[in-house]
Amino acid sequence: MSDQVQMTTMNYDSDRPVAENPVKIMDLSLRDGHQSLFATRGRTEDMIPVAELMDEVGFWAVETWGGATFDTMHRFLNEDPWERLRTLKRYFKKTPFSMLLRAQNLVGYRNYADDLALAFVDRAAANGMDIFRTFDALNDYRNFETVVGEIKKCGKHFQGCICYTMTEPRLGGDVYNLDYYIAKAKDLEAMGADSICIKDMAGLLAPYDAYNLIKAMKEAVFIPLHLHSHFTSGMSPMTHLKAIEAGVDIIDTVMTPYAYRTAHAAIEPLVMTLLGTNRDTGFDIRKLAAINEILEKEVMPKYKHLLDDSKVSIIDINVLLHQTPGGMLSNLVNQLREMDALDKIDEVYKELPRVRKDLGQIPLVTPTSQIVGVQTVNNVLHDTADERYKMITGQVKDLCYGLYGKTATPINPEVQQKALKGYPRGEEPITCRPAEVLEPELDKAKAEIGNLAKDMDDLILYAQFPVTGKKFLEWKYGITPAPDSVKPITMEQVKAREALVKKALAGKLIEKNEGAPAKSESARTFNVFVDNEFFSVDVDPVGGPVVFAGQPVSAPAAAPAAPAAAPAAPAPPPKNEAAAPTASPAGTLLLAPMPGMIIKYEKRVGDTVAKGDTVVVLEAMKMENALPAPCDGTIKAIDFDSGDTITKGAVLCVIG
Ligand code: CO
Repeated sequence: MSDQVQMTTMNYDSDRPVAENPVKIMDLSLRDGHQSLFATRGRTEDMIPVAELMDEVGFWAVETWGGATFDTMHRFLNEDPWERLRTLKRYFKKTPFSMLLRAQNLVGYRNYADDLALAFVDRAAANGMDIFRTFDALNDYRNFETVVGEIKKCGKHFQGCICYTMTEPRLGGDVYNLDYYIAKAKDLEAMGADSICIKDMAGLLAPYDAYNLIKAMKEAVFIPLHLHSHFTSGMSPMTHLKAIEAGVDIIDTVMTPYAYRTAHAAIEPLVMTLLGTNRDTGFDIRKLAAINEILEKEVMPKYKHLLDDSKVSIIDINVLLHQTPGGMLSNLVNQLREMDALDKIDEVYKELPRVRKDLGQIPLVTPTSQIVGVQTVNNVLHDTADERYKMITGQVKDLCYGLYGKTATPINPEVQQKALKGYPRGEEPITCRPAEVLEPELDKAKAEIGNLAKDMDDLILYAQFPVTGKKFLEWKYGITPAPDSVKPITMEQVKAREALVKKALAGKLIEKNEGAPAKSESARTFNVFVDNEFFSVDVDPVGGPVVFAGQPVSAPAAAPAAPAAAPAAPAPPPKNEAAAPTASPAGTLLLAPMPGMIIKYEKRVGDTVAKGDTVVVLEAMKMENALPAPCDGTIKAIDFDSGDTITKGAVLCVIG
């Protein structure tokens, strides 16, 4: 069989030949598609209307799970991720399911112990997963060993990924060159991979590089090759075509409403491009159109507001300039915006390649993209002229210790030494398979969560996401009510919202009301943003003055009926006071250097601390930051609890 794509002239219906070697297609709409475009907010109920139709298309597989879905579902959607798998499986009767597995990171952000990894794969297979697309952020395949053994034991398909990254504008250079990728492909084949995926998460793979890469790989290994390329840079449709010409077996695409921007190329143009050739997909374009019709009318209106439409361009030129994943860049921008430091973005672009080099030129993909990104922002915001790496995240320390695996090049020894100073596991980095130093964690998790985890699926969820997982289990079993923010919106609500915005845009929202009271002097003006629309609203409190959070509180707000036994405690410092001084009459304040979520307090009220002791662990952009005591003293007050979301400048504790 020739590698060349061959054309015939034909009518669409009557004489379409069956292709000699059809390109197989995996659809990503239900996982990477909405993860890329709609912040992974897709709900199971919005997948069901198209599920049976998608099952009829003839996809090689549909990706339905893994990546960020597990995290987002329980955290933001109040959905049990395991239940999605079982539900969708009832509608997809023939098409296999694929998931994205972060190897020993499972669907979280660090390497987990072997007992948890085995249980996770086992339960995913039992709940209906067929293909385990497995990757390691460092391309360190020792992190595959545990999960691969279990995937095989369960009789499932092991697809091994090579994360595609580079240090030069095109394929080549000292680290990530053709030899590197060929060696990785051979490693995967030797591990028993059923197929190999070239995972181009940032859309960096250029068409001619893809051609050369696939050609060389086809000669080096015998198992099917699968290309996963994001559109971000605009190259992926061309890359797909050159990869097909080089003989790639499987291509990833999405349905049109999930296509382009940081997602993937759409399926429909590819079907037409290959129609009548020896690589014809064989798909019926009318079936695809019917699916799109439902998505456009019944599903997308609920998600449209999540689309980042701040720019007209659907191509991110920065990716071509900085070789950085699109999602990582938008995270960095958000993080800087939350810290009122968006003007530092150019410094961040400059610092990022330096940090990446210091940390061993690692590929940038979850979780290493966050690790490098957050550390870069920390350096830009906190470093001084004479001290670099002033605030090192817990994850960078773990990376320097070797807990993520072997980096492509050695870590900068100065940075490594600084990161490991006082590191609890030891100051000497490890060189073994990371999970070998991890203690089993399932029993410990079970002891912590107790009967709130009713089965292994609950326990696995909790073990990977202790803070948000516990919250979710409390919602699931009715112990605490789920907040409104995690409830789905209906099409009726979408229509009402659209009508309101339309009215406001036409200037009809402010209606004269005959009986309206006069505006008092306590009226305050609020800027209200609905999606990207701005409204200025005056709010006039009824029934007395209101103290706004952030204003200084003059006296402790003692309830009149409270017993007067205890001496008056010092006034609690105001929460979320961005401009608060670091020394107050009550003591020295530890302020949040960034917005985030409290993971845990290491100290309690009454504990004595020495300057530099870790007081609280704060999660920001999924990275854990251990915040040290700014002085010696005793903890006088703690205003927050594990799981609380806090703004930059919030008073985390008072030390007196
Ligand atoms: Co992807």
